[in-house]
Amino acid sequence: MYYNIQNIPLTDLAEQFGTPLYVYDADKIIEKIAILRDSFKNVNLKIKYACKANTNLSILKLMRKHGVEIDVVSPEELRLAMMAGFEGSQITFTPSGVSFDEIELAAELGTRINLDNLDVLEKFGKQYGNTKGALIRLKPHVFGGGNEKIMTAHPESKFGISIHQKDEILELVNKYDMKIIGLHQHTGSDVKNADAFTKAATAILDIASNFKDLEIIDLGGGFKVPYKDGDSVTDMAEVGEVLSNAFLEFCKKYGRDLQLWFEPGKFLVSEAGTFLATANVVKTDPIKTFVGINSGLNHLGRPMMYGAYHDIFNASNQDTSEQEEYRVVGYICETDTFSWTPEGKQGERLMNKVSAGDIIAIKNAGAYCFSMASQYNSRLLPAEVLVIDGEAKLIRKRDTFDDIVRNLVSVEI
Ligand code: LLP
Repeated sequence: MYYNIQNIPLTDLAEQFGTPLYVYDADKIIEKIAILRDSFKNVNLKIKYACKANTNLSILKLMRKHGVEIDVVSPEELRLAMMAGFEGSQITFTPSGVSFDEIELAAELGTRINLDNLDVLEKFGKQYGNTKGALIRLKPHVFGGGNEKIMTAHPESKFGISIHQKDEILELVNKYDMKIIGLHQHTGSDVKNADAFTKAATAILDIASNFKDLEIIDLGGGFKVPYKDGDSVTDMAEVGEVLSNAFLEFCKKYGRDLQLWFEPGKFLVSEAGTFLATANVVKTDPIKTFVGINSGLNHLGRPMMYGAYHDIFNASNQDTSEQEEYRVVGYICETDTFSWTPEGKQGERLMNKVSAGDIIAIKNAGAYCFSMASQYNSRLLPAEVLVIDGEAKLIRKRDTFDDIVRNLVSVEI
């Protein structure tokens, strides 16, 4: 457990900014960038932060300051990236099944685009021929990822063009004299074993020599982070070595030095985030004791959506002599349990004694937490704070009722 971020007590942050609150530790993000760079130190590496994990403008700026580029999936993420100061050439657009208008917009802004179906490949070829380069997103038919909702490279996945459609791809590339500057694949999220990454990379590199203009091999994101003590995670040293070797061998065969791209989300920001909420109620019932906090699946949906395990602790009580099993739940009008077991069931957590008013902290809240939050039950979105150089800075104001009604149109009924 940790009770401070850069020496600032979590309880002080809760008091200063109110709860529910997302807090991010900039040092942790910087540390993860360094680990990734170190794991791939022998290759020409480019990190493209998959900003869907956390699109706060200040997080994007922090990435940019540390030489990380960016991967976006919508025109809105693209605009945010530009607001953060990224140039078109530093932005990759990796959408899934979007209209060609969005592809055109991204192309006009000079981004790198991952084309993910044959139809769009043909339209791109017809429109731009060899005047604009593009990458192709391939589906390598590999199983990898924490659960089926976040696996993206298996045979039934909607993502990418199947490697078994190589002939159709090459036919279009030749027909329109297209300049394919890169090949992309993304295995899934929470991929812990190096084997899945290796299989996917091998599948891509096996067909890569069919493309003569390559500058980039983009192997996506998905590195697994620890959600609890002793959790098995992606062994970055191993993945780094195995993939770097396969990549360098390919470059040698191909006759040119290419760039190796990754687009991690969770790996860079998950552990940097802590979610703080207040215990509204401690409710003892004949079967179990519930802690009801001033938040719910509307703010942090991963447990209910994926059965995800997040560490939870009482930031207001460091006394371990009196602990109890609690089921930590939200205030939403449907079941919204935060405390899931490692086996993926709703359960209880042993925590230092909780009293109403205590600050309850949820770890690993930096990725896919705020970015997936909603206004369900007409609740306000939480504030976000970045702790940077020992100082806590508000990076997003808490919603107000105005944000709930902003776009409502009241008509005569
Ligand atoms: N690249 C592509 C093309 C992706 O689709 C994703 C994630 C990433 C990179 C980054 O993956 P990461 O390194 O963050 O695992 N909401 C889910 C995760 C969905 C991932 C979607 N795509 C969760 O909370 O577990």
